[in-house]
Amino acid sequence: MPDKVYIKDGKLIIPDNPIIPFIEGDGTGPDIWRATRKVVDAAVEKVYGGRRTIEWKEILAGEKAFHLTGKWLPEETVDAVREYIIAIKGPLTTPVGGGFRSINVTLRQELDLYACVRPVKWIPGVPSPLLHPEQVDVVVFRENTEDIYAGIEWQAGSEGAEKIREFLNTRMGCNVPEDAGIGIKYMSKTASERIMRKALKYAVENGRKSVTVVHKGNIMKYTEGSFKNWCYSLAEREFKDIVMTEKELLSYGGNAPEGKIVVKDRIADNMFQQMLLRPSEYDVIVTPNLNGDYLSDAVAAQVGGLGMAPGANIGDFVALFEATHGSAPDIAGTGKANPGSLILTAVMMLEYMGWKEAAGMILRGLETAISKKIVTNDLAKQMEGAKEVKTWEFADVIIASM
Ligand code: NAI
Repeated sequence: MPDKVYIKDGKLIIPDNPIIPFIEGDGTGPDIWRATRKVVDAAVEKVYGGRRTIEWKEILAGEKAFHLTGKWLPEETVDAVREYIIAIKGPLTTPVGGGFRSINVTLRQELDLYACVRPVKWIPGVPSPLLHPEQVDVVVFRENTEDIYAGIEWQAGSEGAEKIREFLNTRMGCNVPEDAGIGIKYMSKTASERIMRKALKYAVENGRKSVTVVHKGNIMKYTEGSFKNWCYSLAEREFKDIVMTEKELLSYGGNAPEGKIVVKDRIADNMFQQMLLRPSEYDVIVTPNLNGDYLSDAVAAQVGGLGMAPGANIGDFVALFEATHGSAPDIAGTGKANPGSLILTAVMMLEYMGWKEAAGMILRGLETAISKKIVTNDLAKQMEGAKEVKTWEFADVIIASM
């Protein structure tokens, strides 16, 4: 009998036949979703032989929702993700036009999905600009709800900008020019601590070696600098027996004792260099919104770009898994779309559910398909001697390779 995922005693309980809502997505969404679903169902069947199955439940968002209901994001969709706890989505086109809030951003805000989680690891054979892409294996935890990105801003010359400017200049001793647009950057202890807690828990549960706090605290002391301090103090307070700092590591000759997680920090600009020059020194990364926005795309590019990068937005329990690229309307329906990002996203979802065997099987199938150089158009263009297949054929190649 299909059943809901639920929470008991602070733990996620996954029944053997969980109902998982999905949003197909716009543009290439339906193509890559169909491929992904086929691969996931095949892996679950192969691994669990019918003992476990996923009961997929379609929920609407984007163009399909608009055509069927007149709404881009019906309330029932948000409610369903909240109710069923785990859901997966394809990319959604953001309609162009004034005053339209991105559906993706709305979902994150309404469901308080405060952590944008992006694992970035190279799959052998995927074209990469690095000499040693195999050294990249990081998971970026980007804070989703605060920072300059939260959208508190006023256009230059507007009434709001004028009010803020006057307050700043007459009451706070600032000197903001008359023709300036103004944005507010804020970061709270609560939000900083909860993202650090999530990153550390992930590190513990997945046997990761370090958590690096990436910030710009040398310049923005009371936002980014405080973020760093709050992350360290949370680690010290709640994970005392498990963590150690880089300084403490020195007394162990640079090698952390078994089971210890090293907490360190890097200034954001330096971190971009570090990820190119010494990627193997980094593992879990936790960072505020804007740094995380840049860093997660830059790191994904190191292993072959967004076409192969999975992602999820996760709250305390509710998790919405999504491909990191957009709806690619330019190639919709052509069979050129690579379902790799959404398939890896589904792998992440299966891991979150604790179905690690099925996740591993899909990953191996995908790796084998790529090592055989049977790939979609985007990768085939960059790989010598590759055989190009359509989106849906790629799914079959993965299944045959599992
Ligand atoms: P995009 O990621 O859709 O496309 C950028 C380029 O990458 C295009 O050349 C496209 O053909 C290619 N591409 C993307 N996904 C691919 C795949 N799976 N396989 C092969 N090639 C792929 O970004 P763009 O064009 O800026 O945005 C298009 C729409 O998607 C916009 O409406 C945007 O708002 C939306 N978008 C949605 C996201 C989401 O739902 N999470 C994320 C990013 C953009």
